Amino acid sequence: MILPQKHSATGTTIFTVMSALAQQCNAINLSQGFPDFPIDEKLGALLFEATQQGFNQYAPMPGLPQLRQAISNDFAKRYGLSINPDTEITITPGATYAIYTAFTALLEAGDEVIVLEPAYDSYIPNIETNGAKAIPVPLQAPDFSVDWERVKNAISKKTKAIIVNTPHNPTGAIWTKEDWDILADIIRNTNIVVLSDEVYEQLVFDGKQHISVLQHEELRKRSFVLYSFGKVFHNTGWKMGYCIAPPDYTIAFRRIHQFLCFAVNTPAQYALAQYLSQPALPDVSGMMQQKRDYFLSLLKDTPFTIHEPAAGSYFQTVSYANISSQPDMEFTQWLTKEHGVATIPISAFYSNKKDDKLIRFCFAKKESTLQDAMDRLRKL
Ligand SMILES: Cc1ncc(COP(=O)(O)O)c(C=O)c1O
Repeated sequence: MILPQKHSATGTTIFTVMSALAQQCNAINLSQGFPDFPIDEKLGALLFEATQQGFNQYAPMPGLPQLRQAISNDFAKRYGLSINPDTEITITPGATYAIYTAFTALLEAGDEVIVLEPAYDSYIPNIETNGAKAIPVPLQAPDFSVDWERVKNAISKKTKAIIVNTPHNPTGAIWTKEDWDILADIIRNTNIVVLSDEVYEQLVFDGKQHISVLQHEELRKRSFVLYSFGKVFHNTGWKMGYCIAPPDYTIAFRRIHQFLCFAVNTPAQYALAQYLSQPALPDVSGMMQQKRDYFLSLLKDTPFTIHEPAAGSYFQTVSYANISSQPDMEFTQWLTKEHGVATIPISAFYSNKKDDKLIRFCFAKKESTLQDAMDRLRKL
């Protein structure tokens, strides 16, 4: 029997490929987006405490009430937003799952979804698995701003949603209030729903602010907003996240969620609830900005060039046009095998594999890792 191919992405994701190649070549892995430094000991201790306190059985389907309340308090404190923990927040096993669940709650066969590219690689397969069609719209190099005319032109009667990501993986670009206002103008007289992937919301640099779709009163009413604890507390392996959406959207989201995984890891929820409820949390943006600046200071001694420092996320996109004219897929493999540093080719984030001779570095690493990697690249 031949099983159906439900989406157009064949083979293994580039992140798995590059991480495996890095391991095989004993290369320094600046490809996949995960920190190589330890989590806060307090958070680890809380996970242990949870198991000792008996938080070892299924959690309620929407998530532990104390974690949903802690998230609600956190958004009130950081954004001045009122979010109902019972009707607007659902805990999920990571943001990737939350994105899939939101798409599944929303999409029907034949629908179209606008995807701004370069894009995180799960979006299009998720859309296609639901029988819908992705309509890619390229962001504008070199600053990766949105080409609003192209967005307008991509809208059809079949457009059900648009997925937005700020701060942006892989380019580090962030949306302004004006971007949200323009999007609101464009979709005002449509039924288009917004999926806003804000997993890097706490990683914004140089005094800039993350502007959430939740702060846009009009758009908030038609948005699923997806978050990841892994990106904030450096524990990507816990696979913990959440979805914030208006009550009617949350009902639809939970309709799918309760038959996908039903409930999420209880001890991790307890630990995160306690951790989030501390009076003061570590300054993640400040810490990551230091890493970005250190990475950029080392990059200056290599032939790589940048358009501008990442405004957010923990990625820096760089050009290797000064070094090689190889396609980016080949260049990253060569760099891993011959120079011992693994990165990600930006063409992997485009459905048409557009190649602008750009690669992505993850700088969420110990200073010693960044230094070792750059020592190798200085020899290029
Ligand atoms: C833009 C974006 N969205 C979602 C995710 C996934 O988050 P999680 O690990 O919580 O599934 C990532 C992880 O790299 C990401 O970069």
